[in-house]
Amino acid sequence: MEKLVIKGPTPLKGEVTISGAKNAAVAILPATLLIDGTCTIENLPNISDIKISCEILEHLGAKITWNSEHSITIDTSNITTTKAPLDLTSKFRASYYIIGAMLGRKGEIEVGMPGGCKLGARPIDQHIKGFETLGANVSVEKGKIYAKAKKLKGAPIYMDIVSVGATINVMLASVLAKGTTTIDNAAKEPHIVDVANFLNTMGADIRGAGTDVIKINGVEKLHGGSTYSVVPDQIEAGTFMLAAVATRGDLTLKNCITKHLESITAKIIEVGGNVEDNGDSIRVWCSKRPNKANIKTLPYPGFPTDLQPQMGVVLSLANGTSVINESIWESRFQYTEELNKMGARITAQGKTAFFEGVKKLYGAPVYSSDLRAGAALVVAGTAAEGITEVYNLEHIDRGYENIEEKFRKLGAKIERVKE
Ligand code: EPU
Repeated sequence: MEKLVIKGPTPLKGEVTISGAKNAAVAILPATLLIDGTCTIENLPNISDIKISCEILEHLGAKITWNSEHSITIDTSNITTTKAPLDLTSKFRASYYIIGAMLGRKGEIEVGMPGGCKLGARPIDQHIKGFETLGANVSVEKGKIYAKAKKLKGAPIYMDIVSVGATINVMLASVLAKGTTTIDNAAKEPHIVDVANFLNTMGADIRGAGTDVIKINGVEKLHGGSTYSVVPDQIEAGTFMLAAVATRGDLTLKNCITKHLESITAKIIEVGGNVEDNGDSIRVWCSKRPNKANIKTLPYPGFPTDLQPQMGVVLSLANGTSVINESIWESRFQYTEELNKMGARITAQGKTAFFEGVKKLYGAPVYSSDLRAGAALVVAGTAAEGITEVYNLEHIDRGYENIEEKFRKLGAKIERVKE
């Protein structure tokens, strides 16, 4: 078992380069299944979710060449099976994108129920509704999903819930369908735009990604031969922005799209931090105790649920009592119990948590319950006085590239230790 041992407090200072977006990359990789040929993908984050995605694609017949730790060339001309490996697909959430992509490419797929962070119920009814509207038969039995279609036909689809996964999955399924699909009440996250840009680069005809109506005109085939670079990670960037505030540091983030960070910038200014937008880089600094603030998580362009735990660290150190209302996931306050072990005063009741700010956090052994909770604990450990040990690193490694190396370069005293 591995743990991160952090000796704090350290105000993080310096420059950090943001990696490619996990939640875009885990959709772009299955999207390559729609191409009858070869393409190159760059700026992939070096994280375990990407390695598992590549293993699943290889199992289906794709040939992958690693050009560097952030770039692959993938040849999907020969897809040899419609059965995805159950053990791998159940390891992470985004394996559900195999369904949309394979329905488009082969008209058939058998896949394990997706795994991923335990954030409460994670239904996929909107994905299934979308596939069925396009003409597929979908059944869920004994932990497996079977989907089959003779030829998908474009159709209007209204999403009952704003869902990132369902929007992307239906987009994947409809790219090669006959006729036009419209997705109404679509999610607008930057990774949705990125997946649409990738598919359009390969010959798809998708319009309106980034708005709540996406129109997909089906095309005969996607051609390969192009290179695509994954968008910078909005959530990794936000994590470092909030780490700068929590540790009262001064960070410059390189390779980020500041437009994607507006809701986070606004909250940082509200709590008394400073933000300087320099186009493709952003500087965040804070020299005093943060002010209290209230947060409600919302789909993009609202404040992202995936930064709620990191913001929770800032608010546990704020002057006054703050309230966070989590509107996306049922169980995203598990990290508050761990922060309380470090001296925070947080009371979580259902989807609401009250943060009575304290002047200091103190090091303690703490356990990541999920990916973003883990990142929040690393931020808390860097801000806290004394030694923090963060356990359950497999969650963090799924989504943050070299987290300890990036923190160490910014001055944190952090080591990965094997027990
Ligand atoms: N929902 C349904 N039915 C569906 C789909 C979703 O009821 O068919 C509900 C969910 O239960 C949730 C809400 O709709 O309450 C939004 O879920 P969404 O589908 O948008 O989430 P997701 O696609 O499963 C992605 C990210 C999550 C991120 C959410 C929200 C990926 C691989 N995962 O999940 O990222 O929290 O969108 O922005 O893109 C993370 O990176 O740590 C993470 C959990």
